[in-house]
Amino acid sequence: MPSIDNPSTDDPSTDNPTTGRTGSRTDPRSAARRRPLAALVGADEQVPLVTGGAVRYANLDIAASAPALQSVADRVAEFLPYYSSVHRGAGYASAVSTAAYETARRTIGAFVGARDDDVVQIVRNTTDALNLLATAVPGDVVHLDVEHHANLLPWQRLGGRARAVTARESVAGTLAAVEAELHRAPTALLAVTGASNVTGEILPLADLVEIAHRHGARIAVDGAQLVPHHRVHLERLGIDYLAFSGHKLYAPYGAGVLVGRRDWLDAAPPYLAGGGAVRAVTLGATSWADTPARHEAGTPNVVGAVALAAACEAIAALPDSELRIHEERLRDRLLCALGFLEVPTLQLWRGEVEAIGVVTFTVPGHTAELVAQYLSAEHGVGVRDGRFCAHPLLARLNGGRTAVRASLGLGSTTADVDRLIGGIAQLVADGPAWTYDADGRPCPDPRPLPAWVTETGAGAACA
Ligand code: ALA
Repeated sequence: MPSIDNPSTDDPSTDNPTTGRTGSRTDPRSAARRRPLAALVGADEQVPLVTGGAVRYANLDIAASAPALQSVADRVAEFLPYYSSVHRGAGYASAVSTAAYETARRTIGAFVGARDDDVVQIVRNTTDALNLLATAVPGDVVHLDVEHHANLLPWQRLGGRARAVTARESVAGTLAAVEAELHRAPTALLAVTGASNVTGEILPLADLVEIAHRHGARIAVDGAQLVPHHRVHLERLGIDYLAFSGHKLYAPYGAGVLVGRRDWLDAAPPYLAGGGAVRAVTLGATSWADTPARHEAGTPNVVGAVALAAACEAIAALPDSELRIHEERLRDRLLCALGFLEVPTLQLWRGEVEAIGVVTFTVPGHTAELVAQYLSAEHGVGVRDGRFCAHPLLARLNGGRTAVRASLGLGSTTADVDRLIGGIAQLVADGPAWTYDADGRPCPDPRPLPAWVTETGAGAACA
């Protein structure tokens, strides 16, 4: 049985602890996966263990919220002295803030290959972006049942105008089912996930674009998980709308975007009624501005926009292949070890399917809550447990029960993955070393919180 890696050494050159596969110290590709691809804020943060002492935090919950890139935090620090009113002030700081906001809009659009006449709407996150798009769709929407709630509930709210397609066992079968549904009834929009937030699997976007357009529909891609991992180019792929979040793209400052065709958004009612979204107002009537101002009422989140643009610049500077290889190798290592430990993983489609660094699993004999709490409490590994805001998908893949998700990103290393594997191996072999309550929480929990935090965490917002 594999042994837990020693947190005090956290040796980045550790060979695979379960498979015995060796990562040669001289193979540059092995070396690449041992290092983070970019500097991240908090990468060396120590976290307490219930068993005493502290260990470097192994953050394997990147799919939920990614830490800030150091370059993003630096850009925010550079900008903050100029922070001022956007589109509203005459002072120099206000001029800088307005220019920074509009520069960010352009940078973000360029990063995802927006067409010249596309609009980049700065919103809060992917959920916000897709809710905005739902107010603008002039007809029916088709989506899959595998979607995150962000790409499900805005359409469900449209009532009879939304139609769900159940994904089939293969990618080809799923594409055929989508095509049949688009053929069956007129559809304005096909809304699909770019990469599953539960299994990491990726549908072939080019095929979906072709199917949608052949049936007179536009296509919107929930890029929350895909964009931080793979380069997406709207113009080249023919995608009509793309939504993604700063907090998953190493820019956790509260901004996200909807990028895409302008006409529906120009015709839609303003998303929020308020200042900045208007041309003129009397007590009886309002003349609304066109996009993007039309849907950005209130003081804009210029810090979030600047941060998101800085993240786009940093990721654009990394070769796409380097990013993919880094994650693929870590994902393979994790999958291989989980297979060796007979820990089942969730998968949507049969056969070889491209995927980002997201792996969801269950450990027989232990609840997902216990597994996730144990990994944090005894090994300093952060993962997520729950149904991942994808209840219909978990109902299908796991009988509605919760599971554990490990997710990788720019900052992930072999040492992080091996710590997770070692922790699971120890759990499978010996069970936890600490005691846990009926909800799977460590009991007692002697780990101190930072001094300035006075409340213990409330329950999970999205189980
Ligand atoms: N959508 C985020 C996740 O999948 C919160 O974890």
